[in-house]
Amino acid sequence: MTLHRPITVIDLGGQYAHLIASKFRGLGYHAVIADPEAPLEEIAKSCGVVLSGSPSLSAYDEDGSAVRRILDLPLPILGFCFGHQEIAKHYGGTVIHGQPEYGPSTLTITRESPIFRGVPEKSVVFMSHGDTVTAVGPGFHEIGTSAAGDGPVHRFAALADEERRRWGFQYHPEVDDSVYGHVMLGNFAELCGCEKTWDAAHLLPEKLEAIRRDAAGRDVFLLVSGGVDSSVVAELLLQALPPERVHMLHVDTGFMRDQESAEVRRLFEDRVGERFHFVDASARFFEALAGVVAPEEKRRIIGELFITVCEEEMSRLSLSDALLAQGTIYPDTIESGGTRRAHVIKTHHNRVPLIEEMIRAGRVLEPIADLYKKEVRDLGRALGLPAAWIDRHPFPGPGLAVRVLNADGRVPEELGSVQAGVDAAGWPAGVTATVLPLRSVGVKADLRSYELPLCLSGPRPDEDLVAARLKTLTGINRIVWNLGPAFDRVTVVPGDCTPERVRTLQAADALVTAALRGQGLMDAVWQFPVVLLPLSFSDDPAGCAVVLRPVSSERGMTARVPGLPQAFFDQVVPRILALAGVTTVLLDLSTKPPGTIEWE
Ligand code: XMP
Repeated sequence: MTLHRPITVIDLGGQYAHLIASKFRGLGYHAVIADPEAPLEEIAKSCGVVLSGSPSLSAYDEDGSAVRRILDLPLPILGFCFGHQEIAKHYGGTVIHGQPEYGPSTLTITRESPIFRGVPEKSVVFMSHGDTVTAVGPGFHEIGTSAAGDGPVHRFAALADEERRRWGFQYHPEVDDSVYGHVMLGNFAELCGCEKTWDAAHLLPEKLEAIRRDAAGRDVFLLVSGGVDSSVVAELLLQALPPERVHMLHVDTGFMRDQESAEVRRLFEDRVGERFHFVDASARFFEALAGVVAPEEKRRIIGELFITVCEEEMSRLSLSDALLAQGTIYPDTIESGGTRRAHVIKTHHNRVPLIEEMIRAGRVLEPIADLYKKEVRDLGRALGLPAAWIDRHPFPGPGLAVRVLNADGRVPEELGSVQAGVDAAGWPAGVTATVLPLRSVGVKADLRSYELPLCLSGPRPDEDLVAARLKTLTGINRIVWNLGPAFDRVTVVPGDCTPERVRTLQAADALVTAALRGQGLMDAVWQFPVVLLPLSFSDDPAGCAVVLRPVSSERGMTARVPGLPQAFFDQVVPRILALAGVTTVLLDLSTKPPGTIEWE
């Protein structure tokens, strides 16, 4: 089928620009991404334009002029978050710094608009902004307001000038948590006159052709983890290139799941025989991480050592001139600050400086770097991969190393003031709110946060209460609920990612996976990290705590906490508590944002 003229998504650097294009494609519409400085005549060939969000704290920054030229194009234009503010401003409205909103809010439609066809008067949308529109210029109308729970009403959550064909949403309709977001995107595509001509099969010939062109007669060396992404790349390479040119390597870092490296080895040895190579580098990784607490430092060390090991292997196998292939997908790039304007949330191990250098030298092949997990899975299906490979839960490159948190014994200096703010907030009867003495990574308004988790004890906290408190409490980016015994105090237990701690985590993780499989719940969650905290909730001076982090998500860019049956917790919690050294089990109740899926 011939592709219709695309909808062009202008990437202003938000965490979600590619997600927007991916969403349109998921609906069957052809969508492409462009920089604001892309030639205007190219952008003008689109059937419509979307302006993404941006981490720029002010809506009055350097991008202004490029965006204004685009806004003068005679095409339908829809803006989200920063893009929404740019539209308001360009046509005489006012934007101020303040009135931030994070997480779910209720959108109320206040005026009829074709952009809202099929959307109920009230629906949940996802917010992540620090600047706000406070007035619109001539021709524009407010078409929606927002409010979280019974909090204050935020004006101009959605605005429109139907005649000029300009629409703006303060929220992110592209994230799955904006329940009717896909309907609004579909309405915009229709208002642009775009036709549904796109599906995942369009990707396959394009991808195979690109691999043949980029590999240009060279050997290719692929790093396989056993996850969906590298398995899809493996299959793409095997279908695109002569088999004798495709070599594979699996590195056991010591931070894989229980038995996982052995399974990967079996799987790929069956598929490619002696062109599959295996290295056990676990001792080197454990040594390199000794004494390291900062998550970004851990990620950097793991990423660099990983590449060093790969280069050693390539040289040993006389494959140093081969291209290095990776199963990098789009969120790895965006969250590593890999597009020009995005903020570094976490450096994924396939985006460390050494790799960046190899990319610049033209030595890296990343055939799926522009795709989201969902598209990778669709592509895997188009390639004929078995369902059991395609539907595995995502697993981070640095593996369990980012799920075993380290501590040097120091208590974060802000603990007292954050606890005072928590106490002042007031809590329902029977609920105890304890700020935990360690930091974890989160994301607020497109920026990285490194703040403290709040642990609630007592009856299960209400979802709205958690959402409201995550929005308002200073210095807190996660809320967990204690599923273990009552405790009097929490102490920091100094220590590293030692083999013993990793084994405890592997055991807890294996119990969770077994219960999910046994109870038919693998599809009920998108991913289920299990995390080990260097915190003792009892008198055990070497104790630890285990966090359960089930999430529902489609692409990992945002996440919610899925409901799981009580029988699941009844099975896993006592078994995890029975593991040596485990003093409690916590359930992470945080949405993303403000918590990220992984704790580091
Ligand atoms: P966060 O923690 O940023 O994670 O909410 C979003 C998704 O990305 C995965 N993740 C990684 N994947 N290399 C990867 O390939 C990495 O370094 C990495 N860090 C996080 C995470 O598991 C989740 O699915």
